[in-house]
Amino acid sequence: MSAGMGGFWPEPWLPQSLGSPGLALAAGLLLLVLCLSARRTRRRGEPPLIKGWLPYFGQALKLQKDPLGFMTTLQKQYGDIFTLLLGGKYITFILDPFHYTSVAKNQKLSFQIFTNKFLKRVFSIKKMITDSDLIDEIHSTYQFLQGKHLDILMESTMQNLKQVFEPQLLKTTSWNTEYLLPFCNSVIFETTFTTIYGNVLADDKKTFITELKDDFLKFDEKFTRLASGIPIELLGNLKSVRTKLIKDLTIESLAKLQGLSEVVQRRNDILEKYYMPKDTEIGAHHLGLLWASVTNTVPTMFWAMYYLLRHPKAMAVLRDEIDHLLQSTGQKKGPGFSIYLTREQLDSLVYLESTILEVLRLCSFSGIFRFVQEDLTLHLESQDCCLRKGDFVVIFPPILHHDPEIFEAPEEFRFDRFTENGKKKTTFFKRGKKLKYYHLPFGLGVSKCPGRFLAMVEIKQLLVVLLTYFDLEIIDNKPLELNYSRFLFGIPYPDSDVLFRYKIKS
Ligand code: HEM
Repeated sequence: MSAGMGGFWPEPWLPQSLGSPGLALAAGLLLLVLCLSARRTRRRGEPPLIKGWLPYFGQALKLQKDPLGFMTTLQKQYGDIFTLLLGGKYITFILDPFHYTSVAKNQKLSFQIFTNKFLKRVFSIKKMITDSDLIDEIHSTYQFLQGKHLDILMESTMQNLKQVFEPQLLKTTSWNTEYLLPFCNSVIFETTFTTIYGNVLADDKKTFITELKDDFLKFDEKFTRLASGIPIELLGNLKSVRTKLIKDLTIESLAKLQGLSEVVQRRNDILEKYYMPKDTEIGAHHLGLLWASVTNTVPTMFWAMYYLLRHPKAMAVLRDEIDHLLQSTGQKKGPGFSIYLTREQLDSLVYLESTILEVLRLCSFSGIFRFVQEDLTLHLESQDCCLRKGDFVVIFPPILHHDPEIFEAPEEFRFDRFTENGKKKTTFFKRGKKLKYYHLPFGLGVSKCPGRFLAMVEIKQLLVVLLTYFDLEIIDNKPLELNYSRFLFGIPYPDSDVLFRYKIKS
């Protein structure tokens, strides 16, 4: 939920973004204090220290401009481990995939300390800091996103997709033209919300979902600033937007919805044990879950569609694969929305899965963060590495995902990269050795995304529906870049948008 919560990015703290001369002066003074306190030198056994010429911000601007290019240059110069000064924090980056396990397994490197700060800043959840039992109980609810519980969620996702698309299927066969990003936002938000939180029974269902989505997008847009430590009062009307969202997700509000998922029901039982019924932190917990379930799924869906629209041959292979499965399971594409796939059947679509994995390989820019609780030495395969209390350590998978030794022509979209002889490909090598970790868009170890199976199932189902029922075409076929303002926070959004059109297959 917390991918990259440190607040390493200078942009929000540039004085002009604070708004008034007084605040700018305060920011200047703060900067001075921070500069003076940042006179650190490298100690024996520590990784190379790269501070850059800009006090406090260090290397943040360069990294945000071209994360991959800059990190690759540093890797060539300093090797696979180095410490960067970023926004007043010292962060040691671990780039060699054979070193990941030592970081993930080290008990003195804490994910929870890191995540608690984030939950307080972004969602105003405070109790997690002081109550480890609450943390454990909340984590126990993640089992309801997996195994047999996932089958129930999957069925519900398909029902909700049906509700989203059935009205379209009954329409005429003319083309609908839309921008891709708002399309993905609407479909993913509505499907995810109704799958996890249930259906709105009132007549004004569409209005409720649209308003909730719009508020959510306003919140999400400013979330990196909030996460970087800017007080919410300085972020326009964000506080009232967040308060409204939290109010929409109280136990009382959720009681009006039908079909709460098991994960939400269990969460409610736990939250009722730890909070008074009217405590606003209950809604804040739900906002956290809703945010985690939507914020990365939308851009993943966006990039999946974008790449497929620009690679018609890949789209044709996927259509064939899906058609073949539907035929072999005796399903005919009649009028209306009638397809049904089990999880096993969905899993058998290897080219569909490979396409999504390839999109995640290309587009994921999450860092896997840990807080160093005390001075310690990491014993790595090739060297020992001293870490300093109070710093952060980050496993940075984008370097792995774009390593030409592991993935040939890593900058290219190859939809079948994760297949071999028509089957799933799971073996990748570096320096002649088989890699344990070669694909990490969902994190690693204790912080691994508990919603990863649901995310994959949801995106697969949505693509199956779109490819089965619709003709899809890109209109302005222009290249898009990733917008790195969320760098280290998950899947970046695009820097602009493209128009596409869709119509029911004749
Ligand atoms: C393609 C979509 C998704 C991607 C790429 C993704 C990625 C991630 C990552 C990288 C983390 C770890 C954060 C960290 O290390 O700081 C995470 C955490 C989390 N994700 Fe996802 N996620 C996705 C979809 C979902 C969905 C659909 C859910 C549904 C409930 C979900 C729920 C969560 C939760 C609850 C956490 C926090 C876990 C904790 O507190 O330890 N995610 N996600």
